[in-house]
Amino acid sequence: MRTVLVTGGAGYIGSHACKALAAAGFVPVTFDNLVTGWQDAVKFGPFEQGDLMNRARLDEVFAIHKPIAVMHFAALSQVGESMSKPGLYWQNNVMGSLNLIEAAVAANCMNFVFSSTCATYGDQDNVVLDENSAQHPINAYGASKRAIEDILRDFGEAYGLHHVIFRYFNVAGADPDGEVGEFHQPETHLVPLMLDAIDGKRDALTIFGTDYDTPDGTCIRDYVHVCDLVDAHVLGLKWLQDGKENRVFNLGTGSGFSVREVIDHSRDVTNRPVPVVPGDRRPGDCTKLVSGSSRAIAELGWKPERSTLRQMITDAWRWHQTGHYNQ
Ligand code: UFG
Repeated sequence: MRTVLVTGGAGYIGSHACKALAAAGFVPVTFDNLVTGWQDAVKFGPFEQGDLMNRARLDEVFAIHKPIAVMHFAALSQVGESMSKPGLYWQNNVMGSLNLIEAAVAANCMNFVFSSTCATYGDQDNVVLDENSAQHPINAYGASKRAIEDILRDFGEAYGLHHVIFRYFNVAGADPDGEVGEFHQPETHLVPLMLDAIDGKRDALTIFGTDYDTPDGTCIRDYVHVCDLVDAHVLGLKWLQDGKENRVFNLGTGSGFSVREVIDHSRDVTNRPVPVVPGDRRPGDCTKLVSGSSRAIAELGWKPERSTLRQMITDAWRWHQTGHYNQ
């Protein structure tokens, strides 16, 4: 059995990764504390409840399942919250990841796929953000992820921990089969909030800042479909199994869309009006984050086939209307 330990496997991206891993012939073991994840989302392999801060529990799970690799998604990931409660992010993300990395090395599980973020680059307007770009995060979330990247490099040097780091741009969409999808409580992300506004679950979407230095004044992001994103992780695992070098890959499409453009696409896809109100900037938000790299396509053979804005919103809208987890 080729077992992979998936931290955060009950969350949005982790649950899609478990589906992709199972489809590729792996057994995904979800390790999740269910603080932000959903037990209902664990559908593709065993579930082990636990917290990254509990080293003994991690050791136990490594001993039971003997995974050949770790995919590490578990993290707090709200940019705004990271600005008001930075300690949470250093504790949970950095200390928790250090525990996990140490437990993996102790268990001789030496293949590690890490979920990092374009937020590690910070705000670098008109700069092509490829994997060699300088990392100057402007929020504690990005800083915590950059610190974990550093830990992985050090453990790679010291113990030969073999790792791939993926820096995500903005993840959207849902499983087209409707088995899993995006569901955060509370929700902070643009696409699900906008869909809530469209079907009346909230009064309106607040646009966080209309005075940015962009063509329409709203922030620009590079959106990538969650199914394409997790496909890259399976390729990353294969990369490690093939004994290739430790590597960083951006996961984005290279196309940026403003908040207003996302709203326009959503109106077209759903054929319904999108109630919006202009609001203040959100602390920690970068003006523009667009991936300038095709390394994952060239080297991993990644094919991001569902990552058009229309497809992402179509899949998210289907999930929004039909999918759910018990709360
Ligand atoms: N936005 C709004 N109104 C909202 C929510 C979001 O205008 O109610 C805007 C934001 O200001 C931003 C864009 O929509 O410009 C996207 O915001 P999200 O909250 O959906 O995503 P973020 O860009 O803040 O964060 C996401 C991931 C992070 C990752 C980051 C990198 O959640 O994990 O992308 O930009 F690090």
